[in-house]
Amino acid sequence: MRILVTGAAGMIGQKLVQRLLADDGLGVHPIEGLVLHDVVRPQADSPLVTALEGDLSAEGAAEALIAHRPDLIVHLAGVVSGEAERNFDLGYKVNLDGTRELLEAARRAGLAPRVVYASTEAVFGGPFPDVIPDDFAPQPLTSYGTQKLIGEALVNDYSRRGVVDGVSIRFPTICVRPGKPNAAASGFFSGIIREPLVGLPAVLPVPRDVVHTMASPRAAVNFILRAATMDTAPLGGRRAVTPPGVAVSVAEEIEALRKVAGEKAVALIEERPDPAVWAIVQTWAKAFEARRGRELGFEAESSFEEILRVHVEDELGGRIPVAEGA
Ligand SMILES: NC(=O)c1ccc[n+]([C@@H]2O[C@H](COP(=O)([O-])OP(=O)(O)OC[C@H]3O[C@@H](n4cnc5c(N)ncnc54)[C@H](O)[C@@H]3O)[C@@H](O)[C@H]2O)c1
Repeated sequence: MRILVTGAAGMIGQKLVQRLLADDGLGVHPIEGLVLHDVVRPQADSPLVTALEGDLSAEGAAEALIAHRPDLIVHLAGVVSGEAERNFDLGYKVNLDGTRELLEAARRAGLAPRVVYASTEAVFGGPFPDVIPDDFAPQPLTSYGTQKLIGEALVNDYSRRGVVDGVSIRFPTICVRPGKPNAAASGFFSGIIREPLVGLPAVLPVPRDVVHTMASPRAAVNFILRAATMDTAPLGGRRAVTPPGVAVSVAEEIEALRKVAGEKAVALIEERPDPAVWAIVQTWAKAFEARRGRELGFEAESSFEEILRVHVEDELGGRIPVAEGA
């Protein structure tokens, strides 16, 4: 099987590539070639990998990638929410034009690959019920959500015509995000866990009763593997899937941290209300029914403690530095 991953140097992309190489295949299919593409050159040490650097939305870029004749395209490249809101042109160019170019290039090449498209729960806009049912109409209130929703519509239409065989995953917030803190408004959901675990301070800018839905990076990769290998017939014309996640309050996150890493870790969280962050967070959905996603075989963690323990296993080698005196 030949696989193309766009946005392969990003957080989810790196995790996916590690997993594909560790599993030495996708389900029963051995990997013949893994083409990785990003604006930053993806790093992967394997003779199966071709690492390519460039802007997916540049003229001819998608065509050059499709020339590798992938059987599976995992399309993760994207300008994330804050940036797409700040930079209108860039968001539409990468998130919309880049996606359309990729699908069009596949059409012109007559490939009919499986396409796994990284959509987002931000395709939904408020006012929300406490739990969003599977048939809630997606009406985004951000440019990012709008671009991703149009991408979903394209995946539906190109799939209906048999040009590709697509599945769009409406990812929840992926937590605990490894690496350095980033500027995303949702960054604190990860920051208040990731930093204290290694003995560093973290800021909590919102009240503790904020509820949000999350899944681990490991679960995100499992969603992609499921979407890549599933029978798509049960999807019918609705190729977008809301996978399950854990709806959890900030207070519950902190309790899980206390249980796993102790009081010293919790003491490193400083509550410093930030009205700007709070204003954004109040527009976000809290919880999803995700029954269809479960029925289609998508699985996530069932508690925040489980998400936290996945981070400790996958990023900290099973150690909890703050509990060891960090
Ligand atoms: N992480 C989450 O919580 C989350 C939630 C919902 C949806 N998503 C979506 O999943 C995908 C992957 O998320 P992530 O967390 O790994 O994000 P990320 O920002 O870590 O990775 C995205 C990658 O896309 C690359 N990219 C941006 N513009 C590009 C271009 N013009 N050409 C080629 N590559 C380009 C970036 O360099 C980056 O490496 C994104 O599309 C994102 O919108 C993520």
